[in-house]
Amino acid sequence: RTEFSQIFADIAAFDGREVTVCGWVRTSRNSKNFGFLELNDGSYFKNAQIVIEQGVLANYDEIAKLNVGSAVCVTGTLVATPQAKQPFEIKAATVEVEGASTPDYPLQKKRHSLEFLREIAHLRPRTNTYSAVFRVRSAAAAAIHEFFQKDGFVYVNTPLITGSDCEGAGEMFRVTTLDLENPPRNEKGEVDYTQDFFGKSANLTVSGQLNAECYALAFSKVYTFGPTFRAENSNTARHAAEFWMIEPEIAFADLADDMDLAQRMIKYVIRSVMERCPEDLKFFNEFVDKGLLERLRFLVDSDFGQVSYTEAVRLLEEHKDEFEYPVYWGCDLQSEHERYLTEKIFQKPVFVTDYPKEIKAFYMRLNDDGKTVAATDLLVPGVGELIGGSQREERYDVLVSRMRECGLNEADYHWYLDLRKYGGAKHAGFGLGFERLIMYITGMGNIRDVIPFPRTVKNAEF
Ligand code: 4AD
Ligand code: MG
Repeated sequence: RTEFSQIFADIAAFDGREVTVCGWVRTSRNSKNFGFLELNDGSYFKNAQIVIEQGVLANYDEIAKLNVGSAVCVTGTLVATPQAKQPFEIKAATVEVEGASTPDYPLQKKRHSLEFLREIAHLRPRTNTYSAVFRVRSAAAAAIHEFFQKDGFVYVNTPLITGSDCEGAGEMFRVTTLDLENPPRNEKGEVDYTQDFFGKSANLTVSGQLNAECYALAFSKVYTFGPTFRAENSNTARHAAEFWMIEPEIAFADLADDMDLAQRMIKYVIRSVMERCPEDLKFFNEFVDKGLLERLRFLVDSDFGQVSYTEAVRLLEEHKDEFEYPVYWGCDLQSEHERYLTEKIFQKPVFVTDYPKEIKAFYMRLNDDGKTVAATDLLVPGVGELIGGSQREERYDVLVSRMRECGLNEADYHWYLDLRKYGGAKHAGFGLGFERLIMYITGMGNIRDVIPFPRTVKNAEF
């Protein structure tokens, strides 16, 4: 069997040759003696055109009647047709039906709305849009590994079940082994969830960072790439309850090194996807987000912007009438503020740095002003926050006092504190939301459309 990606890569090489291809019927047009099937096998954006003929095919009538969605294998001669709309056709000598489809196949030739397609998540990968999205997602994942591996980073798998809350935002899904019919209770009569995991408290991880830090302080350069979970009740186009995060962590490095790494990585991944998936990106450019390709090309060759939180707030205050939420020093920037900064003021990706410590996590390094921390968020047009990162607090005493301020129990984090006791070193890292990166690269506007089976508020079907 020859895959479509192989044929489209070098049509001339297949010209005049016999090939066998398999795929699903996208369209079928025919008359009594003659017809065309368009097939797609998912390996490439474009369809292959199959010519079927009465008298050549013993089962012509059966094939001509096939419903859209059927799976078939075709053997025949490939003929290049460089002048035609279809760059080649395959004159079928045999067509075998692997599995016919019934007439109620939900994907008919007309254009379906993304909302409708979300309801048939099991079949939507057979459409142009989703097939392109998920090839890009796969290519981007490969490029991410390639970027880090080439640079000597060690890939670390951090646990999904954990007792710590890295972000301290209390957005964790509880994991429990308790008998909820008859749970253990504390003196006040409340369910004692500290007994969750065979006697310890446990939840699904919101970030692998704290574990990655341990490995960075042994391997110098590490990254994670895996699922993370947030039980936040945000029903937006950018939040999912289960999403993938890439978290590099580098030792002997500060915030500037961290931002440099983030910028190099994003550019590498975009360049790589542009090379691997040109047809898919052309499709997004035409049907999803006009100007996408121009933006991506500009992006890989230009520098991202950088602005301190303090300066960003000053810039936003000049436009305060345009916002629903107030903007002032100390506020947690709302997505309308973030988007204004990156889309209107900078018109490119921008790193916002040095946030007030009150709105950031306990592990971020306190700046000399005692008010801000060495943190950065990367904001990008169309998506908003793509990355959250920081230099980590490596000073034992400062870290302990920040943990106390944040109400954390030192005993629970003894291992994390040990890292500062035994050869602690300056280090930094960031977390990049993989789905948001895919939204950015494809121009897709909803996170539900870049996850095969999205887990968002009220949605755990399939
Ligand atoms: O900014 P966050 O919460 O940072 C951390 O978790 C750090 N521990 C990362 C680190 O320094 N190693 O999350 C990082 C990124 C966000 O910028 C966003 O892109 C993505 O993860 N993200 C989400 N993506 C989809 N759905 C959600 N609910 C997300 N929450 C965060
Ligand atoms: Mg964040």
